[in-house]
Amino acid sequence: MSGGRFPLRQGIPTDSMLASPCLLWLLAMTFSLVPRAQPLAPQKSEEEEEEYETVSTSTLAAPCDYDRCRHLQVPCKELQRAGPVACLCPGLSSSALRPEPPRLGEVQIVAEEGRAVVHWCAPFSPVHHYWLLLWEGNGAPQKGPPLNSTVRRAELKGLKPGGTYVICVVAANEAGESQVPGTSGEGPERMAFPSFGPCSRLSMPPRPVTLVHAAVGVGIALALLSCAALFWHFCLRERWGCPRHRVAGAL
Ligand SMILES: *[C@@H]1O[C@H](CO)[C@@H](O)[C@H](O)[C@H]1NC(C)=O
Repeated sequence: MSGGRFPLRQGIPTDSMLASPCLLWLLAMTFSLVPRAQPLAPQKSEEEEEEYETVSTSTLAAPCDYDRCRHLQVPCKELQRAGPVACLCPGLSSSALRPEPPRLGEVQIVAEEGRAVVHWCAPFSPVHHYWLLLWEGNGAPQKGPPLNSTVRRAELKGLKPGGTYVICVVAANEAGESQVPGTSGEGPERMAFPSFGPCSRLSMPPRPVTLVHAAVGVGIALALLSCAALFWHFCLRERWGCPRHRVAGAL
């Protein structure tokens, strides 16, 4: 037992004596390596980052946060310039061509106030400004004020209750203005407008007051009718007798 322990006891000091230079050497090696290894590691990751960046700009570039239907949308070209990494913009037609027609979206009618709020989406064309055209009946269209290229929403005021209108949105750039169906030749009143086009028909509901008047009128008429029926029942039948009584009397 003790003989077995002895070599161990002897071995510990010899090992520790041997280990200390070894440890020192190892420590020296690691300390000498660490400064060399440290610049190596970030160098590799920098290369990786560079690789990632070049890949992201060339093939994986994200589309810009651009919505052509969003009100007060900054032009995509400006988003591209502002961002740290150039994002992708939808392709546009040439600025030497007049714009494609914008797409008229929903029209919210506020009947009580004679208002309507019109929304639209930009065409895939460079646009300098927009305006609205409003037809009432067969007259010439009224042209709204110019709206800058960020605008996608406009309000129409003074619409008559029960009136029908045609509303179109026009886009313009240096080369000209977008087409509006029916501006050449016949007016657009009779035309059917395709959805996703620049125009829409607008029917204002009749004034709520007129509905109240109509309801009161119907109520008065019903009251008069029932009065007449009661009058006939109690007065006229008394005077002339009931037809059934007369038949009974004849028998
Ligand atoms: C565009 O018009 C809107 C609404 O009138 C306005 O808020 C915005 O500041 C204008 N933008 C530019 C760039 O003129």
